[in-house]
This record gives sequence, structure tokens and C-alpha cells, in this order.
Amino acid sequence: MIAQWHRLHLQNIYHTYPGDQEDQRFSLGALDLSFSPGELIFIIGGNGSGKSTLAKLLTGLYIPETGQIEFAGQTITDTNREWYRQHFSVVFSDFFLFDRLLGVTQDRLETTAQAFLAKLKLTHKVTIEGDRLSTTALSQGQRKRLALLYAWLEDRPIYLFDEWAADQDPIFREIFYTEFLPELKAQGKTVFVISHDDHYFSVADRVIKLEYGAIEYDKRR
Ligand SMILES: Nc1ncnc2c1ncn2[C@@H]1O[C@H](COP(=O)(O)OP(=O)(O)OP(=O)(O)O)[C@@H](O)[C@H]1O
Ligand SMILES: [Mg+2]
Repeated sequence: MIAQWHRLHLQNIYHTYPGDQEDQRFSLGALDLSFSPGELIFIIGGNGSGKSTLAKLLTGLYIPETGQIEFAGQTITDTNREWYRQHFSVVFSDFFLFDRLLGVTQDRLETTAQAFLAKLKLTHKVTIEGDRLSTTALSQGQRKRLALLYAWLEDRPIYLFDEWAADQDPIFREIFYTEFLPELKAQGKTVFVISHDDHYFSVADRVIKLEYGAIEYDKRR
């Protein structure tokens, strides 16, 4: 059951990666962050600042070592973590592409998916046959566009893209930031975008900058 939610709160969350030398271990946090539905949030910061780590904590893939996540009035624990994860549609940089569009209604496949393929400029390459894609043997940038198709079809309340645009050409990058993200927002989605594209930071409602696993700033526009 997808929840109506009003607040997502990362309360004092902390994560560290196990490693041999304690003084060289990276740790994120402790961070305290609150999010509201409909926000378009950019998470920025240099390589290794902790953006992807935060993304994994946020989406419930990593369990915080200390602190907790509160969502829709519930504290996330082992018993409801799977439920929590189902509110997110995520494209990580090391995404895996399935050739089947599972869990999508036939109607949505025929209408939305076809139209979205055209938007992705992939109709000359890929066709949808039943719930199957005709091919996933594509370039990296094209495969990432297909990952976007999956995310779009999943239709979850919260989206997270980890450097999605990094291997897109300038034209499609522009479409992603100036058409696709605003369109998700217009649908009432909450969208997290991890990005190095400072040219497009103005698209965001809020920019969170990380440095060495801590928040350097959190600015609402
Ligand atoms: N699987 C891992 N095991 C051990 N340490 C890791 C692992 N993943 C990341 N780290 C450490 O955590 C730090 C933060 O990594 P993270 O991937 O969150 O950074 P990032 O901000 O996403 O960087 P980038 O812009 O390069 O994607 C890194 O400096 C690295 O040392
Ligand atoms: Mg990263």
C-alpha cells in the first residue's frame, strides 16, 4: 500500500563503510534532514563527498547505523523497510536493465510506454512487444534512457536519479533537466537529483551540498 505522506525525516542518521584503517574510513553524518512531498531536491558535492551513500540510506538500501528514518508517521524498521522502499523509483549509476516491464498494466504499456519511448527518442531502436522490450543492446546513454522509462512506468511517489544525465548528450541532458524533472514535479512527485551539472542547479527548489560526509549547505530557493 502506497502511503499518503507529509514528511520524510532522516533523523540523526549515520553510516560508515567498514575498512581496515579506521582513520581513513569514510563516514556520512550524523545528518538531520526533512523532506516534503513535491520538492525537487538536488544533492550536489564533489566526488566522494557522500551523495550516493546518502541516496542509498534515503531509499532504504543501507540501514543507518545510528538514527532513524520516519516516513508517513512511521519509524522505518525491518518490518516495514520493504514497504518504505516501494515508495521510491530509483536510477543509480550502476543500474541493471531488465528486458521485461514487469508490474505494468497492459494499458499503461500501450499508451504511456510508447509515448515515452518517443520522448526518449528511442522508437527507431526499441519496440515494446507485450511486456518485453525488443532489445536492450544499446549504447550506455540509450540504456540509461530505458532505465528512465522503467522509472516513469513505476509511477512511485518519490524519484531518485544518481547522476542520470552524466552520459547523456547535451540535447537530451537539457530535456531531462528542463522538461522531464519539471513534469515529474508537476505530477506531485518528490524528486531527488544527484548532479554535477551546475548549469542546471536553478531548476531545483532546494540544493543540498555535501562535503566529506557532512552538509555544507541546504538552501531553499
Ligand atoms: N562500497 C564501498 N565500500 C567502502 N567505501 C566506500 C564504498 N562506497 C563508497 N565508499 C567511500 O565513501 C565515500 C563516499 O562515496 P560516495 O559514493 O557516497 O560519493 P559520491 O559523492 O557519490 O561521489 P561521486 O561524485 O564520485 O559519485 C568515498 O570516498 C569512498 O571512500
Ligand atoms: Mg556517486
